[in-house]
Amino acid sequence: MVVLKKRALLLAAVALSFSVKSLDPEYLLHGSVWQTTTAIFFSMLTVRFSWSCLLYPLCLSPLRHLPHPKQTSLLLGQFSRIIKEPTGYPHREWMEEIENDGLIYYRGLFNMERVMVTTPKALSEAVTLKSYDLIKPPTLTKGLARILGYGILLTEGQEHKNQRKNLTPAFSYRHVKDLYPVFWEQSRDMILGIDKDIESKPTTKDENEKQENSREVNVDGWTSRATLDIIGVATIGKSFGAIEDDQSELYRTYQTLFKQDWQTRMIGLLNFFLPFWFLRALPIPRNVKVEKARVYLSKICFEMLAEKRSKIAAAKEKDKSDETAGGIDILSVAMQSGGFTDGQIVDQLLTFLAAGHETVCLPPLF
Ligand code: HEM
Repeated sequence: MVVLKKRALLLAAVALSFSVKSLDPEYLLHGSVWQTTTAIFFSMLTVRFSWSCLLYPLCLSPLRHLPHPKQTSLLLGQFSRIIKEPTGYPHREWMEEIENDGLIYYRGLFNMERVMVTTPKALSEAVTLKSYDLIKPPTLTKGLARILGYGILLTEGQEHKNQRKNLTPAFSYRHVKDLYPVFWEQSRDMILGIDKDIESKPTTKDENEKQENSREVNVDGWTSRATLDIIGVATIGKSFGAIEDDQSELYRTYQTLFKQDWQTRMIGLLNFFLPFWFLRALPIPRNVKVEKARVYLSKICFEMLAEKRSKIAAAKEKDKSDETAGGIDILSVAMQSGGFTDGQIVDQLLTFLAAGHETVCLPPLF
């Protein structure tokens, strides 16, 4: 669907007003170029809104013929349901209830069109076979790049191919298999930690106030800390100790970043209408937190890089021909590939630390 950008519409409105002024100033609104510009601009925005939020998605889009849930609201599609229910619940229900061939279509806020892939075959087409045809929306990329940098997850086209070529050795079957013991070790430590946590909790009472021998523990934090430690070993060759210490700054920083508070949701929504540079400049607590987290994460990633560099140098000192000096983790492989600048390596670290541990808790799919 072709939609003219707001900037282009504004320029067109200014040009139109000035041509009215030069051709026949009597037609200017109250004789003012700027009032005329404003009036033309907002009429254009209204036409654009009617086209992109009503006419095209409801009457013209070829996607509307795909299997889809019943439209519940003329303008909001499935938005209110997606916002109200836990992340992914409506999508899972549609997958179970709507007969489909791998794709389900639904509309979100102001009828923004979404296609959900529902089968392994459709998924492999989307994320591998045709991944270069499916470009991530710039609003999403800009928002995520603030935390992830422009690493392999957010780059497209040739840049992505280059990064992937340089990082693939870190994911060889042998390397991943060598990480299995780490997965088990960290999972065992997590279970032992949860055990202790349960023991430390007072028993709960049932609704009849009768004493019951059950205790409750929220495992969400435990799984997040375990995956953070696992991705630490896979990425830089050592654990971050998050299982032992739930107050670790790295773990707390990611908890802050991934917390879906009302400000985060509001920014996510406003990002559909207002430019990202404007939203990120707003002096609100969420922006302050994200900026503080961004600075902290970049700092520790550069420290990891420097530490790994001296480790590789020391290993090379001992044995110049050692190809795996410094280790077989993602950072060592990225450095040995010679295909990345320090800044790009830090972007990869930011990407793997986030994509590798918090994939379990996704933000709402507007
Ligand atoms: C339950 C766990 C996980 C889920 C559901 C998940 C999901 C995904 C999805 C859907 C994509 C494709 C994104 C796209 O192209 O738009 C992706 C890409 C990616 N994931 Fe994961 N992921 C998981 C675990 C991990 C782990 C453990 C790592 C770290 C080693 C990781 C690192 C990445 C990276 C680097 C990419 C970008 C790959 C590329 O573009 O070539 N993910 N993940």
